[in-house]
Amino acid sequence: MSAIGAGGQARSQPLLGGAAEPTLLEMSRTGRKAWSLPPCDVPETPVDEMVPVWARAEVPPALPEVAERDLVAHWSRLANRNYAVDLGSYPLGSCTMKYNPKVAEEVAGYPGFTSLHPCAPEDAAQGTLALMADLEAVLCEITGMDAATLQPAAGAAGELTGLLIMRAAHAARGDVRRRVLIPDSAHGTNPASVRLAGYDVASVPSSDEGLVDLAALRALLDTDVAGLMLTNPNTVGLFEREIADVAAAVHDVGGLLYYDGANLNAVLGVARPGDMGFDIVHSNLHKTFATPHGGGGPGAGPVAVTAALADYLPGPRPEWDDEDGRYCLVMPAKSIGRVHSHHGNVGILVRAFSYMVALGPSGLKRVGESAVLNARYLQSLVADRYPSAYSGPCMHEFVASAGPLKKAHGVRAMDVAKALLDRGFHAPTVYFPLIVDEALMVEPTETESRDTLDALAAALLDIAEVAERDPEALHRAPENTPVRRPDEARAARKLVLTWDPLA
Ligand SMILES: Cc1ncc(COP(=O)(O)O)c(C=O)c1O
Repeated sequence: MSAIGAGGQARSQPLLGGAAEPTLLEMSRTGRKAWSLPPCDVPETPVDEMVPVWARAEVPPALPEVAERDLVAHWSRLANRNYAVDLGSYPLGSCTMKYNPKVAEEVAGYPGFTSLHPCAPEDAAQGTLALMADLEAVLCEITGMDAATLQPAAGAAGELTGLLIMRAAHAARGDVRRRVLIPDSAHGTNPASVRLAGYDVASVPSSDEGLVDLAALRALLDTDVAGLMLTNPNTVGLFEREIADVAAAVHDVGGLLYYDGANLNAVLGVARPGDMGFDIVHSNLHKTFATPHGGGGPGAGPVAVTAALADYLPGPRPEWDDEDGRYCLVMPAKSIGRVHSHHGNVGILVRAFSYMVALGPSGLKRVGESAVLNARYLQSLVADRYPSAYSGPCMHEFVASAGPLKKAHGVRAMDVAKALLDRGFHAPTVYFPLIVDEALMVEPTETESRDTLDALAAALLDIAEVAERDPEALHRAPENTPVRRPDEARAARKLVLTWDPLA
């Protein structure tokens, strides 16, 4: 329902809280605009020469016409209803929603970066190419790899890139393999990427300890297996202690080991996937380094590989040319081709590099150590009411279960998550990984203070207490948010992705 009446007069409902926010199309009034352009200072090309007839629309698109003042108010109202990393703790497991220092934003905003065209010739882009080459080198150092590409636009894009490299490396020696193994606790993007890369998925069961079941893995391995995808620490927040044996078993059948770097924050500066035996690694720059992960914003999922796989990397990549004394863009010899129309999401690369430089090697190590310390501290505070699914010491996150609350009081993981929103925190990830009953996956990250962790623990314990005396109150949660509990089943089954003025 629109809050702006005919003629666009001011709204009478309260600004924040329950009032429905009109869409920009509902706010649109003919002739209003939020832009102005300087006079054109180049000869104008007639539209007939620029746009082929087949590409011309007969009817102009129905774009909203809104004044700058109203546009800013609209976005500000929506932003005020939202929760964000800059507002407080965001313990969304597997997503590493850490606070991102503003220095990274400041550097990414330098005009030298923001006004560089992605198609600029090499000579005009030497600074950015130098940053990209340095970032590749630092990522190789951090992951224990030999060469990297910065092109993949997110973690999932990195997974696909890595799997295509795996396929190309096997194909180059005439070795056609059909299957990729993934643990039963894997993130959903892993099997999706495996299928996109043209492989079949085979699932490796977890042991009672929540780790890869080595005997089950060995039973699945043969010369049809192209590789194993793994994240370490794994998706239940535990370090795979037998990783060297896992790697040896996969390598023994000619397979390759892929490291899903989504959990790299836990081992930053302390352990390296390359030293664990991995051949291909993606890192989520938008999680581990800077750029808040979430909200569907742009990301970067660079892929680093061992020397044996370097020739298959996507390209072109920046390379220092000694003779010319400058950086050039070079295509690796057996490259799988481009995985991005340009050089990746360069703004995200600049943010990650600024973060690395600002913290330095010892600072990055403290990130990993503090992420683990914070998770273990929080886990210990809530363990009595929210038992962890597995007994091993957690790394940067832990997976607790709301199973006991469900059994005793009918209060589920979703109720706990919604009740946390009422108490001023973002919810943890719920119902993932799938192998844990009523999973609550909590990742506090290293940026939260002890005070915040204590407050978060107190909120979780309070919810457990309310579950005992008034479970219905938790089924009604959240009660203090602009949007209450949406009907998720209906939203999934009746997905509406387009705006229809007549609906
Ligand atoms: C374990 C794991 N792997 C892969 C991904 C995919 O990363 P992205 O969202 O950048 O595509 C995620 C994202 O949350 C993840 O948690």
